Amino acid sequence: MFSSKLNGIAILKNQHFSKEELLTFAENLSDRPGEIQDKLLHWEFGPVMEMKFDQLAQNYLFSDEVVPFHWDGAFYREPRKLLFFCQESEGNGGETLFVNTELLWNSLADKEKEDCTKVTLTYRTEKKAHYGGEIKVPLVQKHPSNGATILRLAEEVETHLNPVSLEISGIPNADIFYQELRKKLYDPEFMYEHSWQKGDLLICDNFTFLHGRRALGGNLKRSFMRIQIL
Ligand SMILES: [Fe+2]
Repeated sequence: MFSSKLNGIAILKNQHFSKEELLTFAENLSDRPGEIQDKLLHWEFGPVMEMKFDQLAQNYLFSDEVVPFHWDGAFYREPRKLLFFCQESEGNGGETLFVNTELLWNSLADKEKEDCTKVTLTYRTEKKAHYGGEIKVPLVQKHPSNGATILRLAEEVETHLNPVSLEISGIPNADIFYQELRKKLYDPEFMYEHSWQKGDLLICDNFTFLHGRRALGGNLKRSFMRIQIL
């Protein structure tokens, strides 16, 4: 069977969307019936998050720092798909990384798979942006649409701007286990790195993939509209 690390990601170049047009486009990508609130995840700022560098950021997402791998909605409600529309990007930095955890899982040896199924992860963070609290999740999960095995491994966030702590239970030598698996997230066999250009529209499956970003470096103009599709 044909399998690619990009299965579950769609990219369109040179797109033009107003905020209203993007909302309509995103709404049509939802399989759910009902009103816009049933189709798109709404936060206190609404369904569209404007992502750009903020010198006074209280949270690392809006700083120029690295964003470690995670999935969206973990502390609240998990959307099925994520839509990113790039409004500005200039030069190197701020590349978004996507890791296909279905492929990663399939590559593991039987013993590694056995260890993974024993693991529970506990994440904690203070609510300084739009999310926060404590969650406990099994590392190995099933994709709710296609039933494939996926991995829910968000990395610990070590920053002074709203850190996220991680506690691993279920196996001995949890730290070694975490470091080994974490290394695999960055293996180019499973990871895709997207360098942004203005007008890029990217849609990704929020269950198959974890995502993160490189530090912004000189690309402080990088800005997006991000919509989460239920
Ligand atoms: Fe995210």
